[in-house]
Amino acid sequence: MPQTARVSGVRSRTLNSDSPADAVGVAGQLPSVTPILRWAGSKRKILPVLADFWKPSYRRYVEPFAGSAALFFKLQPEKALLGDINSALMEAYEVIRERPDDVHRAVSAIERTEREYYRVRDRSSSRLKAFGRAVRFVYLNRYCFNGIYRTNRDGHFNVPFAHKKPGVIPPIEDFRRSAALLQSAALKAGDFGEVLSAVQANDFVYVDPPYAVESRRVFREYDRREFSKRDLERLAAHLSTMDRKGAAFVVSYADCREARELFSRWSIRRIAVRRHIAGFVSARRNAIELLVTNT
Ligand SMILES: C[S@@+](CC[C@H](N)C(=O)[O-])C[C@H]1O[C@@H](n2cnc3c(N)ncnc32)[C@H](O)[C@@H]1O
Repeated sequence: MPQTARVSGVRSRTLNSDSPADAVGVAGQLPSVTPILRWAGSKRKILPVLADFWKPSYRRYVEPFAGSAALFFKLQPEKALLGDINSALMEAYEVIRERPDDVHRAVSAIERTEREYYRVRDRSSSRLKAFGRAVRFVYLNRYCFNGIYRTNRDGHFNVPFAHKKPGVIPPIEDFRRSAALLQSAALKAGDFGEVLSAVQANDFVYVDPPYAVESRRVFREYDRREFSKRDLERLAAHLSTMDRKGAAFVVSYADCREARELFSRWSIRRIAVRRHIAGFVSARRNAIELLVTNT
């Protein structure tokens, strides 16, 4: 059950589980599509709050830190631009968009055993074609520890096997529905700056970067390059430009001094979220997060 709490004088909600209301699309017509990928840092638990910011009259949905793109799959916009620095992820979306049945069949055919997992993980992605890389990506994503994406210095995926609770490969219908929704999306592998430079008036931009909090140890290692305070400053400069252009944005971020300072000119709301970040049991507790918006 969602609880409410007061935090620093701001009314906050703790969103603890995917509520039954979440099973219905925002427009009340289409069923929500559950993301087929697991993703550390996914904002699935606050989707109802985020969805409230969206209006179907926006010309386009833009998400420069897409990950599992949970909000995109919930809102089902008619036009979208999704980006992420993780090129393996964006390539997997491209392949799923073209060949959802084939990807589902190939991933489902691989056994879920520790031995098989490490056999797939040890395969060099550069020796595979795009289809094989997408199958490997989806399989490892499903059965790795906590949906974390992490590579070694050579760019080789090195997350261990999940012994507990990785769930099952989603049904083929989910792959088909995801593929159908991805038809409306332009996909861009690269830095958020490239995606945000393309934002125009009346776009709706959901910004969910990794957290670069200096005062605390937080999980932010999605790729070889960490998200730094400098990146956060770059992001704030893009937000100002988008604001001037007449685009609407919502940013989710950890509640920290750096973010409160950089984003102080916009509306900031605090929400309490039960976090499962990094997957360490000791780290599973309520965290205060900021929602920054110019809407
Ligand atoms: C918190 S996750 C986003 C989760 C997403 N909202 C979801 O629903 O799953 C942050 C994402 O930012 C990506 N990322 C990290 N640095 C980036 C950069 N400089 N430009 C674009 N994407 C970046 C990571 O690969 C990761 O997928």
